Amino acid sequence: MEIKNNIHPIFDRLLQREDREKRLEQRAKVFWLTGLSGSGKSTIAQGLERKLYNAGFFAQVLDGDNIRSGINNNLGFTIEDRKENIRRIAEVAKLYLNSGIVTLNSFISPTLEIRDFAREIVGANDFIEVYINTPIEICEKRDVKGLYKKARSGQIKGFTGIDSPYEAPFNPDFEIKTNDMTIEESVDQLYNFVISKIRI
Ligand code: ADX
Repeated sequence: MEIKNNIHPIFDRLLQREDREKRLEQRAKVFWLTGLSGSGKSTIAQGLERKLYNAGFFAQVLDGDNIRSGINNNLGFTIEDRKENIRRIAEVAKLYLNSGIVTLNSFISPTLEIRDFAREIVGANDFIEVYINTPIEICEKRDVKGLYKKARSGQIKGFTGIDSPYEAPFNPDFEIKTNDMTIEESVDQLYNFVISKIRI
């Protein structure tokens, strides 16, 4: 009896992911948007982030161009550097996950191996793969950042889809074919899917 009274388990004092999820009234997940440069990943992720926010959910976009100008500004575009880029992002996404926050990860993440690696780090139960399927001809025609033009003229080497591989997912959890839809329609479709995964 004496002993029992002197035991003070700390489990109930440690703040768990579940506690935070309860407070935020959502289930945290990592939505991993993969697709070519210029496929619309970031635009869709940004629209989705705002829509989720307006509906009372907490989500954070992690985006290639932003992350590469900060935490990953020492990395280039060799397959090794891309893998390291994705490794760090997956670790960051996992931190968000444990704090109850949904992340919308927008990275080309070009190969099956790289995405498997990310899935392994995050944990398969929490990793949801979303394929932003835009044919390269469309991405190249849009060429929002002018990078396809530079890649074609040899000013950029190792550009995804031109002289560096992109392997589309075989069996993504969700797929958006952007050339059949407006941005709003893409965001709405993905929103409904996301909600079904994060609603408590
Ligand atoms: S990833 O392959 O490592 O996942 P990430 O999504 O972070 O790529 O960055 C892709 C963005 O970097 C592109 O949208 C584009 O703006 C820019 N970029 C610059 N050089 C390249 C390149 N060689 N291949 C692809 N994207 C490039």
